[in-house]
Amino acid sequence: MKKIIITGGAGFIGSHVVRRFVTTYPDYQIINLDNLTYAGNLANLRDVEDRPNYRFVKGDITDAQFIDGLFTAEQPDAVIHLAAESHVDRSISNPIDFVLTNVVGTVVLLNAARKHWQGAYPAHRFYHVSTDEVYGALGDTGMFTEETKYDPHSPYSASKASSDHFVRAYHDTYGIDTVISNCSNNYGSHHFPEKLIPLAINNIKGNKPVPVYGKGENVRDWLWVEDHARAIDVIFHKAASGETYNIGGHNEWKNIDLIRLLCNIMDRKLGRAAGESAKLITFVKDRAGHDLRYAIDATKLKRDLGWEPSLQFEEGLEKTVDWYLANEEWLQDVTSGHYQQYYEEQYTSR
Ligand SMILES: NC(=O)c1ccc[n+]([C@@H]2O[C@H](COP(=O)([O-])OP(=O)(O)OC[C@H]3O[C@@H](n4cnc5c(N)ncnc54)[C@H](O)[C@@H]3O)[C@@H](O)[C@H]2O)c1
Repeated sequence: MKKIIITGGAGFIGSHVVRRFVTTYPDYQIINLDNLTYAGNLANLRDVEDRPNYRFVKGDITDAQFIDGLFTAEQPDAVIHLAAESHVDRSISNPIDFVLTNVVGTVVLLNAARKHWQGAYPAHRFYHVSTDEVYGALGDTGMFTEETKYDPHSPYSASKASSDHFVRAYHDTYGIDTVISNCSNNYGSHHFPEKLIPLAINNIKGNKPVPVYGKGENVRDWLWVEDHARAIDVIFHKAASGETYNIGGHNEWKNIDLIRLLCNIMDRKLGRAAGESAKLITFVKDRAGHDLRYAIDATKLKRDLGWEPSLQFEEGLEKTVDWYLANEEWLQDVTSGHYQQYYEEQYTSR
């Protein structure tokens, strides 16, 4: 029996990780610890919320007293840490929130692990989920490996880089069993519609302009979110203590090419004339400090632990569009802020 706290389980990737662990390991107890910020939505987990091995705890990872109390009460064997402020644009307008949640929140969790745990995996493990953005930007060639020097450019990536350093410092200084993974951009169901792909799907559907930064030349390496959750599962169970793994899709797309592909799929799905949705593409002023290209070399993960992506991008994108078109209510609730109001009423008075 293992008891695992998964932080940020109500968010996009966290909900896929929670679902995977709850359904794949019925003998594990999974505690989803999430503060339900604008990005957290328990509707993401409706299909598993009644499972006997799943529980939701509302709480803030920056609240040291609360986290210490939770460790005392629950005695977790492991933490899989995904809770974060995750949107680069928001980090540019409000960097302090990113320092608090991503840096201070991570250190608060590490401190609790330090205080309450003795013994390395399989007794205890702190798994930190991070991003390829800590490595900075690439030119036209090359890929990020686990040895690439950290060179973050946005307040978001700087905060994630800082949290990665703290995780390594707690491993080296206090001997806590830690693993870190740095993943490329994810796509799939339950993605909050402020991010590129769900925003574009939502706007195309509503016949609204589809904003594309600059000339759409920025290149990202896209990974199906369920493949990320599977990689986390593999790394959590098999990686040696102190290890770092890059996770990526070997799937580089210029933003503008991706949006054009999405427009074609949407034309087909919505019965529109070919080329109609692409008329909605609107180029907007580029994001400050916008990294040109990210590309992940995930060779180490394949070589050591046998993981590789399962889906071709076109197939994954079709599935994603199908999910958004079939889950209109989810999208409406998220965009109208209904679900936030609901959770405020549900939880603030308790
Ligand atoms: N989205 C990507 O493409 C991507 C790629 C690589 C790595 N990551 C990393 O994966 C993790 C999850 O990303 P995501 O896209 O699912 O993010 P998200 O924004 O969808 O979800 C974040 C979750 O964390 C919760 N949260 C935020 N602040 C909290 C706090 N103080 N206490 C408790 N919970 C809090 C939110 O309520 C939300 O449920 C992040 O650490 C992110 O850096 C994301």
